[in-house]
Amino acid sequence: LSSTEVNISQIEAGQAVTITWRGKPVFIRHRTEKEIEEARAVNVADLPDPQPDADRVEKPEWLVVVGVCTHLGCVPLGYQGDYDGWFCPCHGSHYDTSGRIRKGPAPANLAVPEYVFVDDNTIRIG
Ligand code: FES
Repeated sequence: LSSTEVNISQIEAGQAVTITWRGKPVFIRHRTEKEIEEARAVNVADLPDPQPDADRVEKPEWLVVVGVCTHLGCVPLGYQGDYDGWFCPCHGSHYDTSGRIRKGPAPANLAVPEYVFVDDNTIRIG
């Protein structure tokens, strides 16, 4: 199956789940107001891989990213690191609450897969 539907109704703000899509982990994170503000407060031009948060989400409360570090492919750990996002323990890459690389050797932001909201409680990835 190339696409996967996920029921997100049980994921509270401040929580994330990891699902598997095409053999890869995908993080679905229900962001808090604070996390959204942090993601928006950044000066995009200062980022290693400049991308506004608005270009990375369909709805501000929900961040969906492929959970594969863009350095050498480890799985980053959520709610860790210097930017409240993810930390990759393999070589120390820090991602923010938009999944953007902020510090460390990774060259690019965590990828955003193709997805749509089928309804308010369901995301279809792929
Ligand atoms: Fe993540 Fe190297 S694989 S920092």
